[in-house]
Amino acid sequence: MSVLVSGGAGYIGSVTAEMLLGAGRRVVVVDNLTRGHRSAVPEGAAFVEADVRDSARLEAILGEHGVECVMHFSASSLVGESMTDPGEYFGNNVVGVIRLLEAMHTQGVRDFIFSSTAATYGEPPEVPIPEDAPVRPTNPYGESKATAERILRWYETIHGFRFAALRYFNAAGASRDHGEDHDPETHLIPLALSAAAGERESLAIFGRDYPTPDGTCVRDYIHVQDLADAHILALGKLGETKENAFNLGNGEGYSVLEVLSAVERVTGKQVPAVDAPRRPGDPARLVASSARAKKILGWRPKRVTLDEIVRDAWAWKQRFPEGYGD
Ligand code: UFG
Repeated sequence: MSVLVSGGAGYIGSVTAEMLLGAGRRVVVVDNLTRGHRSAVPEGAAFVEADVRDSARLEAILGEHGVECVMHFSASSLVGESMTDPGEYFGNNVVGVIRLLEAMHTQGVRDFIFSSTAATYGEPPEVPIPEDAPVRPTNPYGESKATAERILRWYETIHGFRFAALRYFNAAGASRDHGEDHDPETHLIPLALSAAAGERESLAIFGRDYPTPDGTCVRDYIHVQDLADAHILALGKLGETKENAFNLGNGEGYSVLEVLSAVERVTGKQVPAVDAPRRPGDPARLVASSARAKKILGWRPKRVTLDEIVRDAWAWKQRFPEGYGD
């Protein structure tokens, strides 16, 4: 089976492509390289530099590579950025998904694994969050992904698509060869590691007045290889279940301050930190109930402690101090 991985030159896409190849699948990576890195595309995967919004190009790639399933990672995915540039988020994440689905429909490809997000829930009434919690995003990023999920349901009803929408909580960690390299970097763990390494003066703590035990935001950090595993399991289960939204998290919430402590334990270095105002669009607490993914997909996250996750991110950073170097 040949799998098209859109965004396979990015963080979660490249790790999943690597694991798909390890599981014996053929992989074609499609990435426009605006945020991805050519050298992140795993060896053994075919690579095409293209944008998912280019339907004609996508149709040709689907046909030429005999694609049977699409895993769609390419998207704009920063909560903060979405609060200043909503057009980018609706254009890339909503228009992008429609163009891709249309190209698939034309080519008769109907299996789709979608990178969705915890940001679809907004400020949840209860944590851990089950999949049937209200979808009330507090930022355009979450709104764009929630909209794409609704669009997918119509392609399922009308065109017979089979899909899984995997709602990631906070992806972190690395495989041996693939890790997190964003420009600009905005995520907490890589920024804290970089501050610990002395590459930046300090880390800004965005808000200390949230309704959480220590006043900083709480998130559920999940290892990127565990996320990749879930994609492979979801692919194997397509069409077997009526459920198609799955939360992927560890079910444990850690505050910003707890993450900084973990980074200090793992690196043995101090993280210089300064207080800063809240970042617009940030919900106070996002923690997953992943009971559905465990029950239906048979998903078992393997690297569950915050220290293990941070250790792998730190190991990758030490192996590749310049990231992918492009
Ligand atoms: N934070 C800081 N300082 C920083 C960076 C982040 O205090 O310099 C805080 C944020 O305010 C937030 C937490 O650390 O409370 C985590 O922030 P990240 O930017 O690492 O991640 P987000 O929670 O904003 O978003 C991530 C992904 C989204 C996904 C979301 C789901 O980027 O795509 O997790 O929980 F939707």
